[in-house]
Amino acid sequence: MIELQDVRKTYRVGPVDVEVLKGVTFTIGAGELVSIMGTSGSGKSTLMNIVGLLDRPTAGAYRIDGQDAASLSPDRQADLRNRKIGFVFQSFHLLPRLSALDNVALPLFYRRIGTRARREQAMAWLDRVGMADRAHHRPNELSGGQRQRVAIARALVGEPSLLLADEPTGALDTRVGQEVLDLFREMNASLGVTTVIITHDPGVAAQCRRRLLLRDGLLVGDDGAFDKARPARPHPAAKPVAHPAAA
Ligand SMILES: Nc1ncnc2c1ncn2[C@@H]1O[C@H](COP(=O)(O)OP(=O)(O)OP(=O)(O)O)[C@@H](O)[C@H]1O
Ligand SMILES: [Mg+2]
Repeated sequence: MIELQDVRKTYRVGPVDVEVLKGVTFTIGAGELVSIMGTSGSGKSTLMNIVGLLDRPTAGAYRIDGQDAASLSPDRQADLRNRKIGFVFQSFHLLPRLSALDNVALPLFYRRIGTRARREQAMAWLDRVGMADRAHHRPNELSGGQRQRVAIARALVGEPSLLLADEPTGALDTRVGQEVLDLFREMNASLGVTTVIITHDPGVAAQCRRRLLLRDGLLVGDDGAFDKARPARPHPAAKPVAHPAAA
């Protein structure tokens, strides 16, 4: 699904070059659930921006679904990102003036899907994440956990093959954070969406099937290189259903 080979990222800060990623190599297979840990400043968000096609490596190779992502034009890169990748952030990044439903429908608008189909699909996803009864609330009328559920629905409505989350439980208390993590696990197990979660919380990382550890721009730990022979461990809440939007 994704392959990084000796990925480097250097930022120019004034007169000096700062190497933030110093040659990172790993492969993540389709359907994996992976956490990335590392101290503040170790390069996690920089790595996620590259994996998410929001930024380019300074050197090294990055392939997603066999496609060489680093050499694509910015337009093709954006197109690939819109089709393949869903994002979830610590601070939700919902648009404050839109209802939960319209926030979830927005990625479909950019795909030029008609109003009615957009609303139906968005509603199906809100239902899937347990938020159907809050569809017409604005973000400021929702709790943090509820906002994150809406953000997860928005990330999934376009049927991405890769779901990237940067500290998705960082703004939530332990119990609500666990519920959100359970939702990620359920979506990973039932949809097979490849999921990468950046976290500071060892309790969150412990519930992912594979853990990567970054230190000072280098990958220093990987406890489960992808093994196709290993069956996925289903989440207890996982329902073997198709993508609701596809129904
Ligand atoms: N656009 C930029 N220009 C210059 N330096 C940057 C830029 N973005 C990040 N950095 C530097 O790169 C390093 C890694 O940043 P990054 O945001 O990837 O860390 P992180 O592991 O996500 O940290 P945190 O846990 O605090 O979110 C930091 O030292 C940061 O100052
Ligand atoms: Mg970060």
